[in-house]
Amino acid sequence: MTKLAPPRSGDPGLRRAFEELRAKEFSRLDESGYVYLDYTGSALYAESHLRDHEDFLEHHVLGNPHSENPASAAATRIVEETRRDVLDFFGADPSDFAAIFTANASAALKLVGEGYPFGPGSRFTLLEDAHNSVNGIRAYADRRGAETTYLPLDEELRRDGSVAIPPAGDGPSLFSFPAQSNFSGVRHPLSLAEDAHALGYDVLLDAAAFVPTSSLDLGAMPVDFACVSFYKMFGFPTGVGALLARREALARLERPWFAGGTVDFVSVGNRIHRLALGAAGFEDGTLNFLGIAALQSGLAFLREVGMERVRSRVGDLTTRLLEILGGVRHANGAPAVRLYGPTDGVDRGGTASFNLLDAEGHIVPYGDVERAAGLEGIALRGGCFCNPGAAERALELPDDQMLECLEAIPPGSFSLRSLAECLGGDIAVGALRASVSIPTTDGDLDRLEAFLRDTTR
Ligand SMILES: Cc1ncc(COP(=O)(O)O)c(C=O)c1O
Repeated sequence: MTKLAPPRSGDPGLRRAFEELRAKEFSRLDESGYVYLDYTGSALYAESHLRDHEDFLEHHVLGNPHSENPASAAATRIVEETRRDVLDFFGADPSDFAAIFTANASAALKLVGEGYPFGPGSRFTLLEDAHNSVNGIRAYADRRGAETTYLPLDEELRRDGSVAIPPAGDGPSLFSFPAQSNFSGVRHPLSLAEDAHALGYDVLLDAAAFVPTSSLDLGAMPVDFACVSFYKMFGFPTGVGALLARREALARLERPWFAGGTVDFVSVGNRIHRLALGAAGFEDGTLNFLGIAALQSGLAFLREVGMERVRSRVGDLTTRLLEILGGVRHANGAPAVRLYGPTDGVDRGGTASFNLLDAEGHIVPYGDVERAAGLEGIALRGGCFCNPGAAERALELPDDQMLECLEAIPPGSFSLRSLAECLGGDIAVGALRASVSIPTTDGDLDRLEAFLRDTTR
């Protein structure tokens, strides 16, 4: 692929270049007539990435790593090369950072949660705008007697700046924030890492929704841990993520167990074991080495497209998406869309959450719209996107009533539909999410606009 010229937002040349890229790398979208708008759920793989990987597999003999035989040594070499490439992509110096391969971003977050030395006097502070895989760390914090504090969001679903970050507690304290919200697309300021660090926290950055369309320079900020899922960045392979950890912070994590691959030695007779230093001590069992072997060509694809260009292009597409959502009206002039989060393109990524309104201003159940869009070949996501804090704030879900319903719905019967029925009336419990990325064209957004206009007519 030829290198593209530097980006300029709103530049028709930029649009043309991305449309050519779509035709070349994502032709299956046009062949199937499918409008995919769920890039925050998963990116789509480029055809050349798939071909590069197939070609690689065809010409290499790879075996289970960590042995001396040639097939094993080849796999070990690929895994270690890929670790360096991943660190390089995120501006992390290998002498300061380790790249630990995991199944996904959630598994990376779990490694931090289960190993973080929380204790009485510790604090776990996070934004209301947290993915459930970050919320889940509070279960570890609770069990070890640490205090969990949520920082609230404002009307725009940004962090409410009037509420100060509490200082770290007397024990080891962890601060986590998403670089980009998977609910609203809000990009929280990366300077939060510095603020929290200055208050005595270790910082865990959830970069999963940010890195697919923005470059991240870990060397430039006091982040101790960051998590990513590679399928969100370039679509293939699924089942591979990473925890990028400062070596000094990693050494302070306490692994709750050991497994194959994580130890220098285990003695059954003496009941002792020693964990391997660095990344290896956190990689349980056999790595997905064939999947890891696909990462370098995925990263190369993003480098060739150019992350600055991606950011610029996604900015243009997001502006258009927001115009569409803001512009759909009923015949009586009433708005047909309720958008959650910022209404403009400032400090946000290419994700927008919304609900449709009927002509009287009542919310149309998101599931009905998701299904209707699906019938038109348009992939939107419906629900609360594993981000209950942002959803509760956006949808103004009443805490007391929610508690009653959540306790009343028997185990095994919970669904957002059952919650909606219990809450009754006009309360929406979920939303729709549209997200754009490298393959998105203006034609895709035209199709979304036509669908929204037809549905609300
Ligand atoms: C912000 C954010 N964090 C974490 C995750 C979890 O990623 P995964 O499901 O790949 O583990 C997601 C997934 O959507 C996300 O958007």
